[in-house]
Amino acid sequence: DSPTPEVHRGLAGVVADTTAISKVDPDSNSLLYRGYPVQDLATTQPFEAVAHLLWHGELPTAAELAELESLERSLRPMDERTRRVIDDLPRDAHPMDVVRTAVSQLGGLDATLLRDGGVLDPELNRGRAVYLLAQLPGIVAYGQRRRHGLDPVPPRDDLDVARNFLWQTFGEVPDDVVVDAFRTSLVLYAEHSFNASTFTARVVASTLSDVYSAVTAAVGALKGPLHGGANEAVMHAFAEIGSADRAEAWLDDALAAKRKVMGFGHRVYRHGDSRVPSMKAALDALVEHYDRPDLAALYDTLEAAFVARKGIYPNLDYPAGPAYHLMGFDTETFTPIFVAARIVGWTAHVAEQQAANSLIRPLSAYTGPERRDVPR
Ligand code: SDX
Repeated sequence: DSPTPEVHRGLAGVVADTTAISKVDPDSNSLLYRGYPVQDLATTQPFEAVAHLLWHGELPTAAELAELESLERSLRPMDERTRRVIDDLPRDAHPMDVVRTAVSQLGGLDATLLRDGGVLDPELNRGRAVYLLAQLPGIVAYGQRRRHGLDPVPPRDDLDVARNFLWQTFGEVPDDVVVDAFRTSLVLYAEHSFNASTFTARVVASTLSDVYSAVTAAVGALKGPLHGGANEAVMHAFAEIGSADRAEAWLDDALAAKRKVMGFGHRVYRHGDSRVPSMKAALDALVEHYDRPDLAALYDTLEAAFVARKGIYPNLDYPAGPAYHLMGFDTETFTPIFVAARIVGWTAHVAEQQAANSLIRPLSAYTGPERRDVPR
């Protein structure tokens, strides 16, 4: 008999490959993008500069940033055929289904895929990454608008990604305090090493499939509530709880029923998520701007009670959910916003995977019946 191989369920603790894109250090609760602490990038850099950093390894020069901005802005308008595909979906389709379908459609429309099979030309793939970055805010914004029976708002080429995203969603650009909080969230969501959706994208890329297929699969992985879907689940829980004075009783019931409390816990961080302090500061600014101390009280009470009972800390989705709620996004739009930010990390990882590819194909330990004869 061969010895039973050691099984790592959920690949927990498994180091699957190397990456130069970001470093998560659970011991020091830190996250570095290409060496730079994410909390410093989140408060000082435009989202576009962080995208350049993650894709190319260095922050852009002024000329490189201007070039990226100009290309990205030129690629924003939505193809009429993409709009038709979205319009074919039921108006109450989940916005993540809208995004997944639209990304798949973009792949079908990209005639350059015919030239390189989608993978062989890194230059074309860099262009596709900018294209996806440029297209996603318009898709997400339209996804929210059509649920309310509103027409799409065309993009503006005088606005950065964060402002244009808000413009296309709401038809106006909010105060700087809101823009800053939104930009911070995009930077914090942009990249996080081998999380489930990024690993999904790398698995697809490792078969030498194309970048749109990798991103479509990644969107599917992000949708689940154990991953990106948690940010909307947080807001559903807040709606269920109602007010701070009911938080403790709600939590006791949830824990007694063995329900997962969304927005808490993390596979890698055990003493808190490195991104939470930056996002919590952004949420605090929004709470003051919109004068919603009641929301802050509910947030703080639930967090304190959960930490006291379970010793488990919030992840980024916990402050991001209420922040997006205050900005006016529908709860179902929160995870699509995560997509529009994480597109940077996904495409950086697809490029890294394909630059030094090895097919991702693990083993399994068989637990079914031993060999037996088919009845005659
Ligand atoms: C993201 O990996 C990434 O990088 C992801 C991400 C990114 O940037 O891409 O950071 C984004 O996905 C954040 C995670 C969002 N998900 C949630 O908020 C969902 C709620 N959290 C969990 O279900 C859980 O904490 C996970 C899925 C995030 C992590 O799960 P693990 O590592 O598999 O841990 P586990 O579920 O086995 O939990 C260990 C223990 C269990 O108790 P015991 O069975 O040992 O008694 O902790 C408990 C769990 O029940 N626990 C929770 C809990 N989180 C852990 N109990 C209740 N509520 C929770 N949220």
